[in-house]
Amino acid sequence: MTNWQEIDTYAKQWVKEAGAMIRASFSETLNIQTKSNPNDLVTNIDKATERFFIEKIKTTYPNHTILGEEGLEETPAEFGGIVWIIDPIDGTMNFVHQQRNFAISIGIYEQGIGQIGLIYDVVHNELYHAQKGKGAYLNEISLPLLAEVEVKEAIIGINASWIIENSRIDSHLLAALAQDARATRSLGSAALEIAYVVSGRIDAYISLRLSPWDFAAGKVLIEEVGGVATTLRGDSLKLSGENTVLVSKPGLHRELLEKYLMSGKW
Ligand code: IPD
Ligand code: CA
Ligand code: CA
Repeated sequence: MTNWQEIDTYAKQWVKEAGAMIRASFSETLNIQTKSNPNDLVTNIDKATERFFIEKIKTTYPNHTILGEEGLEETPAEFGGIVWIIDPIDGTMNFVHQQRNFAISIGIYEQGIGQIGLIYDVVHNELYHAQKGKGAYLNEISLPLLAEVEVKEAIIGINASWIIENSRIDSHLLAALAQDARATRSLGSAALEIAYVVSGRIDAYISLRLSPWDFAAGKVLIEEVGGVATTLRGDSLKLSGENTVLVSKPGLHRELLEKYLMSGKW
């Protein structure tokens, strides 16, 4: 039988070690490259961090597989067995420009089901962690079940590029939501924004395009505080390819789907 406690202990230890390495890199000159477009950044530190996790995992758990954003390991063809889904730095643009507001995100799944979620806010030394069925924590503090709130009193995490005209959606739907909500916020790290929903700092998070490494950890965490993570149509999130993503407490999730999202073409 899988010893999840042991895996959890190692994963936390490695995340803390990787965080210390990232903090130490602040005094070094970064090597910055672009990926799919001029604003899609990757640095030597993203790659070194992913490599660090690969080495640790392969040495300790040679039969586990790894899906990392930087693709330094062959992508698993399917999600059988135990898969570590890793974003070594989520919020690379913040890492480069601000040296804050980024996180390490690791979801550990077995047969496609999330068992462990870790999101580490490296600069604030805040580790959001959960094991399926055992509740969610922020460092040593147990996080309570989420309290309900209506849109008019909610803070919604959403990136402004989805509210202005864009090729993916009818932006009017989300502009109406931005108008009706108490406020909107955009941090620039999907993993951290989901962790903020988990800890009640914001009430919902919406994105039109996320990859599995952006939400794999957050999905485990949100479910442990009674929240929901789905697509903007209310469907389950897939671990292969990109998804639209809505993370929220259940009542607000329903209100968001019914009033603003279901009529969209995403
Ligand atoms: C990005 C961040 C960003 C989100 C993008 C992601 P990265 O991840 O989470 O907030 O809007 O969709 O790709 O590239 O910094 O790991
Ligand atoms: Ca990411
Ligand atoms: Ca990343």
